[in-house]
Amino acid sequence: MSAPRERKVFDPSAPLRDAEIVVGVGGGIAAYKACELVRLLTKAGAKVQVIMTRRARKFVGPLTFQALTGRAVFTDLFSLTQESEIGHIAVADRADLIVVAPATANVVARLAAGFTDDALTAVCLATRAPVLLAPSMNVNMWQHPITQANLRRLVEVAGTFVVGPGDGFLACRWTGPGRLAEPADIVEAACRVLAPQDLAGRRLVVTAGPTHEPLDPVRFLGNRSSGKMGYALAAAAARRGATVTLLAGPTALPDPVGLEVVHVEDARAMEAAIEAHAWSAHAVIMAAAIADFRPAAPSDRKLKRTEIGLQPSIILDSNPDLLGGLGAERARRGAGPLLVGFAAETHDVVGYAQAKLVAKQCDLMVANDVTSPDAGFAVDTNRVVLVERGATREVPLASKPEIAHRILDRVVELIAARG
Ligand code: PMT
Repeated sequence: MSAPRERKVFDPSAPLRDAEIVVGVGGGIAAYKACELVRLLTKAGAKVQVIMTRRARKFVGPLTFQALTGRAVFTDLFSLTQESEIGHIAVADRADLIVVAPATANVVARLAAGFTDDALTAVCLATRAPVLLAPSMNVNMWQHPITQANLRRLVEVAGTFVVGPGDGFLACRWTGPGRLAEPADIVEAACRVLAPQDLAGRRLVVTAGPTHEPLDPVRFLGNRSSGKMGYALAAAAARRGATVTLLAGPTALPDPVGLEVVHVEDARAMEAAIEAHAWSAHAVIMAAAIADFRPAAPSDRKLKRTEIGLQPSIILDSNPDLLGGLGAERARRGAGPLLVGFAAETHDVVGYAQAKLVAKQCDLMVANDVTSPDAGFAVDTNRVVLVERGATREVPLASKPEIAHRILDRVVELIAARG
């Protein structure tokens, strides 16, 4: 008997790179969406082997998948040519992950019963790799107790992962749950299955975006934060198994799937949200650009030009320093979450970050130079210095998701060091 293959360790910022992924396509109308899924997986660096059921081939031709993957599609367990050229045991052994999309009610039932009467079910039973199902079917089939029991059995007995289904208008013209999860969401679910779960069991609170401090019902004082850095941190932490609460100021970004998002408008709402969530967390990461000042007397109706005069002035009140407040309260209690701040600086970046680390009593300050055109506010990349007491380390230019993972690498170590 050959020894089981060691599971590969994947970089959480790119867990699909060089991963061997089998995509099993079931026979449902959503089979066409599997083409986009395969394209996204390949684009992310995975080596994809497609297996199609007989019914799936009624919806999409194997040639499409062959063109997308550069590999012959495995369709027939009983074909002498295919079995000798591909071989279901070889495919099952080589896989790092099997994704079944769409997983129809029929495929789910056959997997739950342990059938091996076609290439897809045989590979799923023969593999030691994790299996991720993306169900897609008519709403009544989905809600049927037999389908639900089959899925429960797969999850509880075999440790199968499930993503979706989504809710909405279905091809069968019913509305409700049963829609295949979006291909991008299936890809993220695949990343979560493969990424190291070094934040499993940890609760993280991440703040993101700007705050808008109202002047009247239509105007506000704000800043250039897009939320990209904080959202990337929240998604990265969720991928690594953390339970994440994202406290988001006003941004144009869609809510990341699979985590709690609390939307706030201004600094005082952010303060209340932090107070509600921070003290039960293992770590609080403050990437939001919280306004230091707010208009002292916002008007409850739109201010007219004629009322404001030609040289208007705004009287400002100070907002509380929320991170500094957390640091002080943690010192008073003698316990509390790991505190990570961000320092947005225009000069002497590390020097100011060190001063903020001490003044706000936090454990790690992530310093970024916001004058750099490829770092800081609103761009897709960043370049940071991780500043701790007595130590600094540079993280060179990279995408914000990658920077997020490098920050979390250190957060994982710091949480572990606190015990
Ligand atoms: O959102 P993006 O467009 O992706 O841009 C990312 C970013 C530039 C906003 C991010 O990388 C960043 O630097 N965030 C912190 C911005 C900031 O407010 O820096 P600061 O140096 O003014 O504040 C230091 C720390 O104190 C921050 O963690 C901040 O959240 C916190 N703070 C600030 C003011 C305040 N009243 N209360 C606070 O808690």
